[in-house]
Amino acid sequence: MSIEYQINNKVSAFQIIDVFNSVGWNKETKDILSAFQNSYYITAYDQDHLVGFARAISDNYYYTGIFDVITRPEYQNQGIARTMVKHLIEQFSGTYFFLTYTEGNREFYKKCGFSDNNRAMWIPKKTD
Ligand SMILES: CC(C)(COP(=O)(O)OP(=O)(O)OC[C@H]1O[C@@H](n2cnc3c(N)ncnc32)[C@H](O)[C@@H]1OP(=O)(O)O)[C@@H](O)C(=O)NCCC(=O)NCCS
Repeated sequence: MSIEYQINNKVSAFQIIDVFNSVGWNKETKDILSAFQNSYYITAYDQDHLVGFARAISDNYYYTGIFDVITRPEYQNQGIARTMVKHLIEQFSGTYFFLTYTEGNREFYKKCGFSDNNRAMWIPKKTD
């Protein structure tokens, strides 16, 4: 199986949400496209089928945040997410990288080169 990667390509809200849903994440359709369009993102395709993505927000100088790293379950453990994260790290090399991880994914990010920083803080998104 040959996976192709694209950068900031045209992708629909439906396709994005379908990938979120494949791993059990319910994201609001509303505003998902602008979230991607306001980011730098990499997508992974098996022919025309969107099988994963990862996105970054960077000032291109000091700081880069990495978000929404997902590979569809049936495509996992083939190196797709690591390829995408590696690309983001190369694209914004020279900046600090930060992210938050969901339970069970710390080891994956360690394999991508991340280490723990016990001085990070956050304010979770408000839900109405
Ligand atoms: C986490 C996730 C993105 C990994 O995607 P993937 O394409 O399967 O990852 P890769 O195949 O590139 O994995 C690279 C390496 O990390 C390992 N790895 C992947 N997920 C792992 C996990 N959850 N725990 C430990 N190791 C993991 C792989 O075994 C591989 O190791 P190897 O080099 O020794 O073979 C994927 O499982 C996923 O989409 N999960 C649901 C969404 C999610 O939780 N995203 C992360 C948000 S914080």
